Amino acid sequence: MIQNPIITMENVHKSYGDLEVLKGIDLQVYPGEVISLIGSSGSGKSTLLRCLNHLEKISKGTIIIDGIHLDESSRHINQIRREVGMVFQQFNLFPHMTVLQNVMEAPIRVLKRDRSDVKKQALTLLKKVGLQDKAEVYPKKLSGGQQQRVAIARALAMNPKIMLFDEPTSALDPELVNEVLLVMKELVAEGMTMLVVTHEMSFARDASDRVIYMSNGIIEETGSPDEIFHHPKSQKLKNFLVSIK
Ligand SMILES: Nc1ncnc2c1ncn2[C@@H]1O[C@H](COP(=O)(O)OP(=O)(O)O)[C@@H](O)[C@H]1O
Ligand SMILES: [Mg+2]
Repeated sequence: MIQNPIITMENVHKSYGDLEVLKGIDLQVYPGEVISLIGSSGSGKSTLLRCLNHLEKISKGTIIIDGIHLDESSRHINQIRREVGMVFQQFNLFPHMTVLQNVMEAPIRVLKRDRSDVKKQALTLLKKVGLQDKAEVYPKKLSGGQQQRVAIARALAMNPKIMLFDEPTSALDPELVNEVLLVMKELVAEGMTMLVVTHEMSFARDASDRVIYMSNGIIEETGSPDEIFHHPKSQKLKNFLVSIK
């Protein structure tokens, strides 16, 4: 069966004033694919993710997600935001809400779903990320790794078709990285479509179907983890791989 891509980016450009940050991105992502985005700081990785749920407006080009054109129509933007969950480096939990309230907030407020159904699902999600016993706790009582796992549960509560992760473990103490990566790997195993900006090369190598190396606003090289890490073609990628060793 030939599937249609769930994400299509065609000749996407993004500028901030005179600074062109994305210089013509072409990318197709298929349902269930896991893609790691790697590259030096400033190469445009975060901007690419942020364009995909319209946190940034693109300057030129086309983005189609699950058949919906990401144009200026607010109906389309809202539709896409429901389908695309995002997890940031800084967990951005609501500090005045308990863990459970954090997870329940968007489905109730945005989707207007029934409170008791939402609560049931939220508790299931907290169990999935290993935090069922923290439901009534406030975020400040949690470690960074626990907060990030709540942030993942909160994104999943919207039943997204796609999950975007922007350096989800970069703000964590090293000993807390793995508990978050394990939750992400579980999502991979369940077949979630994922785009992950990461410095965790072990995740990029072991958990992704495809790795994209970005440099200076373009996709410089893309391939399987084996191709990217063991048979890099471009000199820029070779230099990058040496620099992160
Ligand atoms: N809101 C903004 N205004 C102006 N420049 C920005 C903004 N966001 C990002 N940039 C610039 O865009 C470039 C790419 O940034 P970013 O996408 O964050 O790269 P990466 O995530 O790969 O480190 C950088 O030069 C950054 O300074
Ligand atoms: Mg970034």
